[in-house]
Amino acid sequence: MKRRKLLKSIGALGIIGLSSALLSSCKDDDNKKTNVVQEEAKSTKNRQLMKIKDPSKPTKAELKHTPEISLGDKDSKGFTKVEITVGSNGIIHPTKKDHWIDYLKLYKDGVLVGELNIEAGMARGFSGFRVNLDGVKSLRAVIGCNIHGIWENTLLL
Ligand SMILES: [Fe+2]
Repeated sequence: MKRRKLLKSIGALGIIGLSSALLSSCKDDDNKKTNVVQEEAKSTKNRQLMKIKDPSKPTKAELKHTPEISLGDKDSKGFTKVEITVGSNGIIHPTKKDHWIDYLKLYKDGVLVGELNIEAGMARGFSGFRVNLDGVKSLRAVIGCNIHGIWENTLLL
């Protein structure tokens, strides 16, 4: 009798253990799915070059992605402050875990001056550089929105 009781107990423990393992496995699967979704969102990067269709009438979406280039003061070493803000006319691009400006680059006369990579949801599309602009004819900013592609703007000097 005692042996039978013991075997029943072990069986019950086995079922509890199995249930617990299954629940744990389901939770692990849920966590894996969540992580996969987050990683997919992070790795979803549209790298298509986008253009403003009608520059005389840019849409809100186009303004939201167009990098604005502004010039500030020139320091004592001859470097001018160049700021890039993603979004024109006060229309600011969102910064979320699944939709954000993931990089930003500045070129002078076609040569890369600097670049910035931005983590999802951590910072807005903005950067500042000090650039020697002596003899420079153009500044070009290029940015990437993970969903809406690559956008650029050129400032002729
Ligand atoms: Fe976007």
